[in-house]
Amino acid sequence: MKLLAIVGSPRLNGNTNYLVDVALAEAARLGAETEKVVLSQHRVDPCMGHADCASVEFCRQLDDGEWILDRFCEADGVILATPVYYYNVSAWMKAFIDRNYFLYKRGRKSQARAVGIIIVAEVEGIEDTLHTLKQFVGESFRVGDGQVFLVCGYAGGPGDARGDAALVESARNLGRQMVETLAGGASQRGQPPPKSQG
Ligand SMILES: Cc1cc2nc3c(=O)[nH]c(=O)nc-3n(C[C@H](O)[C@H](O)[C@H](O)COP(=O)(O)O)c2cc1C
Repeated sequence: MKLLAIVGSPRLNGNTNYLVDVALAEAARLGAETEKVVLSQHRVDPCMGHADCASVEFCRQLDDGEWILDRFCEADGVILATPVYYYNVSAWMKAFIDRNYFLYKRGRKSQARAVGIIIVAEVEGIEDTLHTLKQFVGESFRVGDGQVFLVCGYAGGPGDARGDAALVESARNLGRQMVETLAGGASQRGQPPPKSQG
């Protein structure tokens, strides 16, 4: 079971990366093979908008987009993680999203059966950011609502998320829920027992 995180924060010691690491560590503890791609560590240039994707063999942007998109398609579970930058996803994440147009024009989607979304803002903008990522998930995956797991929280400086026990726990839960979903046996933990008849 392969779980891939695509991270749109360039701050390696920041809040988004920290919460992703927590989620991936929990997933690895439960047996998943994990990988984290921090977009700022690679070259993913913006879409050029020629829209000829379906008639060319390769995207005209000859950068790291191709292999990242291949892994994105092949992973069993994908986490999309971004800080809020001006009320929406970071430019790193937006470039990655737009580069998915190459897949969209070919009718190709990620095969992932579980999706995690992690969003960190200092003050505001989570709603619009979540809307963007949910729209993207709707276009690029074949998953229902029950296969999408969210962690949205507030943190400003590096280290702030680490000090928020509830936020850290929700990231750990996200990793666990994704593994359980992929294993096909979503945990009944935390749910009330079925009502007795009569
Ligand atoms: C360019 C930029 C734009 C930002 N815009 C917002 C914003 O619109 N709303 C907000 O609440 N925080 C905003 N922030 C703050 C970050 O979302 C916040 O510091 C977050 O913790 C950064 O995540 P990171 O530590 O993973 O990089 C912005 C930060 C930067 C650098």
